[in-house]
Amino acid sequence: MSKLVINGGNRLFGEVSIHGAKNSVLPILAATVLCNGNSIIHNCPKLSDVNASLNILRHLGCNCSFKNNTVTIDTNEIRCSRIPDSLMLKMRSSVIFLGAILGRCGNAVISSPGGCELGPRPIDLHISALKRLGAKVTESHGLIEFNAPKGLNGANINLSFASVGATENIILASSTAKGVTIIHNAAKEPEICDLADFLNSCGARIFGAGTDVITIYGVDSLKCCEHTVIPDRIAAATYMAATAITGGEITLKNVMPSHLTAINSVFEEAGCQIKYAEKSIIVKAPQRLSRVSIVRTAIYPGFPTDAGPLILAMLTKARGTSIMVENIFENRFRYIDELKRLGVNVRVEGRVAIVEGVDSLSGAACKCTDLRGGAALVVAALAAQGVTVVGDTHHIKRGYENIAERLSLLGADIKEI
Ligand code: UD1
Repeated sequence: MSKLVINGGNRLFGEVSIHGAKNSVLPILAATVLCNGNSIIHNCPKLSDVNASLNILRHLGCNCSFKNNTVTIDTNEIRCSRIPDSLMLKMRSSVIFLGAILGRCGNAVISSPGGCELGPRPIDLHISALKRLGAKVTESHGLIEFNAPKGLNGANINLSFASVGATENIILASSTAKGVTIIHNAAKEPEICDLADFLNSCGARIFGAGTDVITIYGVDSLKCCEHTVIPDRIAAATYMAATAITGGEITLKNVMPSHLTAINSVFEEAGCQIKYAEKSIIVKAPQRLSRVSIVRTAIYPGFPTDAGPLILAMLTKARGTSIMVENIFENRFRYIDELKRLGVNVRVEGRVAIVEGVDSLSGAACKCTDLRGGAALVVAALAAQGVTVVGDTHHIKRGYENIAERLSLLGADIKEI
């Protein structure tokens, strides 16, 4: 099991290139199941979640290769519609394969994804939407089976919550369904637009992605295409938080500034200067950050829940008291107990974290509890005095490509052992 050893205190300077978005590439990899032939995906980040997705695709019968951030997937020989437990457990978002497998095979079997490190992660919205599209669903012994032997039929679907995964599963399942599907209260995240762009390049007819009403006209079949994944806005926020807490100045290359609007306004409130170019931004931090009054996580275009831990870590050394309200996941604050080992002063009351900025943090041994919580430990460790050893870094590898190498190129003293 690898660890990150960080000797904190170095300011970060230089340039970092942001890798492709985890939350885009995973549904796009699932979407290739619907396409006939060879799909080619560029800007694919080297992440353990991507490897888990490729293993699911191989299990289904696809031939996959992954070289220099480009993945090629040949789906001609798909012969299986079941994702075994061992592969489901590797990655909760494997539920995103459901709509694609059902669309391609008329049948899909997965094990119930259960809870995860962020609290209960029900899939009731996915299941009821697929039922609306005509799937028969049976559950027994922890397995959920979906059947639509004569294919799915378009329907009107109202989501009671704008779930990212449910919106993606509906788009996937309805792309080759008969007739028209309209999703009301759809998720509007940029990753939804990326999925729709990929599918439309393959011949799908999806309109309105990025708004809360998405209309999908089902087509008979999808061909393949070449697609480049959008940059990862949460990875961008991570390198920005790491720079801000160390009082540094960096240029982020390969970002979409418009995807970072809500995140950037928090950095500006904390006293950072941000300059925008077409596909890059420059972040310059003050000597010491200021408090931010209140950050509330929300669905896009609000402040993303996944950036919450990074910003909270950054604010632990700001001047004054900041407040973070988590509105999306019930149990997102577990990493705060680990942050406390570094000397942060944070109190949690239900969905609210109260962050009293301290003058200094000190290095300690700590463990990642989840992906973004793990990255938050790295952010704090970069500004702590002395050595921090971050354990259980397999969580971080789910969502960051070469984080130690990228941070060390920016001047951090960080090693993976
Ligand atoms: C996706 C992202 C994740 C991000 C989240 C919110 C991927 C691979 N993951 O996760 O990084 O944190 O969006 O931006 O893209 N819910 C239900 N029933 C359902 C589905 C969801 O109650 O059927 C609830 C969840 O428990 C959670 C909330 O809705 O409280 C948000 O979930 P959702 O938007 O679906 O997130 P994911 O797609 O799982």
